[in-house]
Amino acid sequence: MNNQPKEVVYNLEASEFNWDIAPGKTVDAWGFNKQLPGPELRANVGDTLVVRLTNHLDEPTMIHWHGLRIPAAMDGTDAVQKPVAPGEVFEYRFVLPDAGTFWYHSHANETVQMERGMYGSLIVEDLTDPVFDGEKVLMIDDMKLNPEHEFTNPGWFVPRIVERHDGRQGDTLLINGKENSVIEIAAGQTERWRIINASSARYFSLYLGGKEFKIIGTDGGLLEHPRTVTNVLITPGERVDIAVGPFNEGETILLESLKYDRITFLKAKRQQFATIQVGNQKASIAHLPETLRTIEPLAKPDAEITRKVRLSVGPSFTDGMDFLVNGDVHVNDQPVKVGELQIWEVSNTSLMDHPFHLHGFFFQVLEENGKAPAYTAWKDTVNLPPRSKMKIAWMPDNRPGTWMYHCHIIEHHAAGMMANFEVIDGNNPNKESMTQAHRHHHHHPMTKH
Ligand code: C2O
Ligand code: CU
Ligand code: CU
Repeated sequence: MNNQPKEVVYNLEASEFNWDIAPGKTVDAWGFNKQLPGPELRANVGDTLVVRLTNHLDEPTMIHWHGLRIPAAMDGTDAVQKPVAPGEVFEYRFVLPDAGTFWYHSHANETVQMERGMYGSLIVEDLTDPVFDGEKVLMIDDMKLNPEHEFTNPGWFVPRIVERHDGRQGDTLLINGKENSVIEIAAGQTERWRIINASSARYFSLYLGGKEFKIIGTDGGLLEHPRTVTNVLITPGERVDIAVGPFNEGETILLESLKYDRITFLKAKRQQFATIQVGNQKASIAHLPETLRTIEPLAKPDAEITRKVRLSVGPSFTDGMDFLVNGDVHVNDQPVKVGELQIWEVSNTSLMDHPFHLHGFFFQVLEENGKAPAYTAWKDTVNLPPRSKMKIAWMPDNRPGTWMYHCHIIEHHAAGMMANFEVIDGNNPNKESMTQAHRHHHHHPMTKH
């Protein structure tokens, strides 16, 4: 098999278009290449991904590559690039350093652009991935529409306060841009399903009618061992890869989200997203090893904390509530140095949940409320329940620049629960030479290790 790194090129055109979420139900979507979700991007680990973004919208946009350990200049935030103006083109180009389930989404006016559909999946494969009978990518989302299928605008004080508090959550439930979809799988087969929560605020608690499935991966790729469960919570921004099946011929299974109360005005409830239809029996070649890989721990659970990040809420006269990091909105946090292990205590002192997301680096959870987590995983997004604390470890590798972390409930992010910070090169603070080093890198595809 040929596993020479190659260049994989895509063109993404952002525009407004009509999208059928169900027969006769058309919404005024914004997205990429007139598809919702945008095109699935796929490549092998070590390949160079080139994405030419053309903006046909009436407002600026940018693409963020959620979960990718790429140079800061490619992160797609307004801290590192000029937003792509209407009519302009911007080329993203980077090496794909990790295999796993990733996604891309707009990082400009997100509360509107993401809600309207500006997202898609990015799948990075590895030749050593376990073998399945098939694979599906399922992007979870919801839309808040009025009876005319138009996106609502929370103009009035009370709806605006509710949407700011809860995040925008609607009753139009989508998998890959469609309502009530039917997912087909042959009897006797085991498939890999890559599930991505692309919604603004919805907590998706996956349930397959009580059938067992195996969690095999999270944000940063495979786990060490598959974990058999009947339910898994996927918060906004998170990904979970599961092994599903084998099922019996003719079975019908509901794909639902169980009730998860994240303390919102909106009442939490159990909801159906799709139906799984099991077809005729087929032979299986799937093989799932007991050990998928090893994940070296970054630090001991009792490692000394180097920074505290506190998520909280506070009163606001104009908007009811502000969403804070260390007591402030839209924060500039202290820099970190390349090569200096980070041990952060991320706490949530508010009475609602927040999914904490770090751009550009994976972390490991060392402790949750003082206890070791059940398993090790590479994460970029982790949920913080009310009044909880996580100790996380991450290593700033040699990718200096401006990075950020934020709550992935998009309305909380917009309302201030975010911070920018610099990764600085302590040994070589000469920015000129760093920029050149990166430019040099881009023209020489990294070899696989
Ligand atoms: Cu998917 Cu700034 O995040
Ligand atoms: Cu991100
Ligand atoms: Cu939040």
